[in-house]
Amino acid sequence: MIPVYEPLLKDREKQLLAECIDSGWISSEGPFVREFEERFSHYIGAQYGVAVCNGTAALETALYGIGVRKGDEIIMPSFTIISCALAALRLGARPVLVDIDPDTWNMDTTQLESKITPKTTVIMPVHIYGLPVDMDPVFECASEHSLKIVEDAAEAHGAEYFSKVAGNRWMKCGNMSDVSCFSFYANKIVTTGEGGMVVTNDASVAARAASYRNLCFHPEKRFYHTELCYNFRMTNLQAAVGVAQLERIEEVIALRRSLVSYYKERLASVPGVRFQAELPFAKPVYWMYAVQLDEALNVDAELMMTRLKDKGIGTRPFFLGLHAQPILQKLRVVKDEQFPNTDRAHQQGLYLPSGLTLTKAKIDVVCDAVREIVQEG
Ligand SMILES: Cc1ncc(COP(=O)(O)O)c(C=O)c1O
Repeated sequence: MIPVYEPLLKDREKQLLAECIDSGWISSEGPFVREFEERFSHYIGAQYGVAVCNGTAALETALYGIGVRKGDEIIMPSFTIISCALAALRLGARPVLVDIDPDTWNMDTTQLESKITPKTTVIMPVHIYGLPVDMDPVFECASEHSLKIVEDAAEAHGAEYFSKVAGNRWMKCGNMSDVSCFSFYANKIVTTGEGGMVVTNDASVAARAASYRNLCFHPEKRFYHTELCYNFRMTNLQAAVGVAQLERIEEVIALRRSLVSYYKERLASVPGVRFQAELPFAKPVYWMYAVQLDEALNVDAELMMTRLKDKGIGTRPFFLGLHAQPILQKLRVVKDEQFPNTDRAHQQGLYLPSGLTLTKAKIDVVCDAVREIVQEG
């Protein structure tokens, strides 16, 4: 079996975990939490990091941090994980969806203007599969309408974007907005098993986020609470793994880039199988090796995934659009709107095996299987 993904953990992770166990620091009070916050936010190029228990909690904490309130509208792509919508809903805000660009599978920024109402307060770009969103139009729209930007960089650790608007320079995903969010789930570029982080350059946003993840303890009176809040804390054990992982991030990104180049080379001659667009303003990190099948082929994503599974090859489907999620339909989050590019991506897209222990020989097996399935139709 070639799995869709498996994390790569080494001796350094074991060594730092052993330090936690030997010292007895296993809760969120341990020193690795602060160290991981500092090192990760520094890597992203931002001043403050607030570690939390997962990326979903990071999104909610970030929205709370910038002061999202009941009745606010938050513009986000329809093609993303439900976590983005949940974060808004839990704070009483409404997700407002935009479709994706058919080639990048990222938010179609030309649709932003048409979605703005007097209630809009936030734009939430999501860097899908580690490809940066074209942020300049987002910056311009946010500045024109005085909106905040909350970046979901859960899948984009280390990806970079070249901004003309922000002074002709490369910027890391997660350092281009008022506040941003990362996930450290087991399949992420830096993993802590489960985990997340809120990253910002704004001290007051960081302080609000830190309070929200820790039950909003009153600064002067212990066990006295004036706001609804959560325990979203990360443990020292998780942070220890994160510190070890972060030491190897550049190596991992380089490996991901070289593996995707080989996939692209091997699949170039298979008609109707395409990767996310390559763009001059983006240095993606290829969080997953995602492909979209042409509708003219006789095989869609579901059939491809079933046939690959029969050959011992693990895959995952693309997101189902937020507009098509039964719970969001029930809550009438979206009313009679169409998101055809999201629907197409869902129908035609899948990730091929994307783990860090992949070899060229395994990629050959996967690509030969894809070619055979496409030819058989
Ligand atoms: C784009 C995006 N945002 C948020 C999340 C939520 O992260 P978590 O699974 O850590 O809650 C994910 C998870 O994969 C994601 O892909």
